[in-house]
Amino acid sequence: MGAKIVNFLKQPMVRAVLAIAVLALVGGAAWGAYQTQRLPQQPIEFRHNLHIGLGVQCLYCHPGAWQGQSAGLPTQSKCWGCHQQIDRQTPELDKLAQYVEDGVSIPWVPVALMPDFVYFSHRPHIAAGVNCETCHGDLSKMTVAEPQKGMDMGWCLKCHKELAPEKETKLIDCATCHQ
Ligand code: HEC
Ligand code: HEC
Ligand code: HEC
Ligand code: HEC
Ligand code: HEC
Repeated sequence: MGAKIVNFLKQPMVRAVLAIAVLALVGGAAWGAYQTQRLPQQPIEFRHNLHIGLGVQCLYCHPGAWQGQSAGLPTQSKCWGCHQQIDRQTPELDKLAQYVEDGVSIPWVPVALMPDFVYFSHRPHIAAGVNCETCHGDLSKMTVAEPQKGMDMGWCLKCHKELAPEKETKLIDCATCHQ
């Protein structure tokens, strides 16, 4: 009986699941905080609605979403590329000018964030034609990005099963999202 349990625990699959479970326990407190997170205070009251209304593309500010794993958040120099040419002063734009003068990256607070034991990459999703909106909501109606509820494992799996049935085995394989 004892030996059976030891053999069971030695199976690679079982070990992977245990490792994930331990990581989940260790990271549990932090993940809980993301899930329940309310709209955080951002360093600058950035308005998505205004900038998207001007015709600025998502990928101009978040180019990594197309090229790779993480979408990335714009630095002060990306904002300044436009704003140094715009003659307008507001308290929020003064903050931007201050970050530029100090040479400090704007410390944006993330609202869409997976725990460390999850592997997610934007690239395959954008390549397959999944819209930003499907996962992040309609940013053209938001100022700062609002956290979306329910971006959990069930959500990932539901879409993977529906969208690519012929690739189902790979897309729902534990190792695809837990490496
Ligand atoms: C493609 C050019 C462009 C980029 C890039 C850009 N902006 Fe703007 N932004 C504008 C324009 C145009 C306005 C409107 C100015 C006006 O109303 O006179 C504006 C307005 C604003 C305002 C004032 C809005 C208000 O509440 O009145 C803030 C704050 C602002 N931008 C912050 C940022 C930040 C932070 C970034 C970088 C993440 C950024 N912008 C990137 C073009 C840009
Ligand atoms: C299939 C769902 C999905 C789609 C489609 C998607 N995202 Fe994401 N996005 C996520 C997830 C999940 C995270 C959290 C990633 C993490 O923490 O590892 C995220 C994180 C982000 C972040 C935070 C910064 C970062 O680099 O992690 C930005 C910005 C972002 N996405 C922008 C976009 C844009 C722009 C598009 C469209 C071009 C897009 N996303 C499409 C699911 C998606
Ligand atoms: C002019 C630059 C600019 C454009 C255009 C822009 N964003 Fe953003 N985005 C930002 C900034 C700055 C932040 C950080 C502040 C915040 O959370 O709103 C951000 C944050 C986000 C986040 C939250 C990521 C995180 O940190 O968790 C998502 C998701 C996102 N943007 C999606 C989009 C999508 C989708 C579009 C196009 C429909 C878009 N953005 C267009 C500048 C931009
Ligand atoms: C709205 C649908 C949708 C959601 C939600 C979604 N995905 Fe995907 N995912 C896809 C599609 C479509 C592909 C590309 C499949 C293909 O290339 O045929 C993909 C591919 C992937 C791949 C690459 C698989 C490979 O072939 O190597 C990973 C990793 C991945 N997704 C992780 C995630 C994670 C983690 C989540 C949740 C945080 C998630 N996905 C949520 C639709 C989705
Ligand atoms: C398409 C992506 C994807 C696949 C495939 C996937 N997971 Fe997950 N898993 C996630 C995400 C995202 C989370 C974090 C969010 C959450 O806890 O729901 C997670 C969380 C977990 C957790 C932490 C539990 C918790 O509630 O915090 C465990 C354990 C886990 N996964 C095991 C597995 C096992 C075992 C498999 C294979 C049968 C698997 N996962 C397949 C995306 C995936």
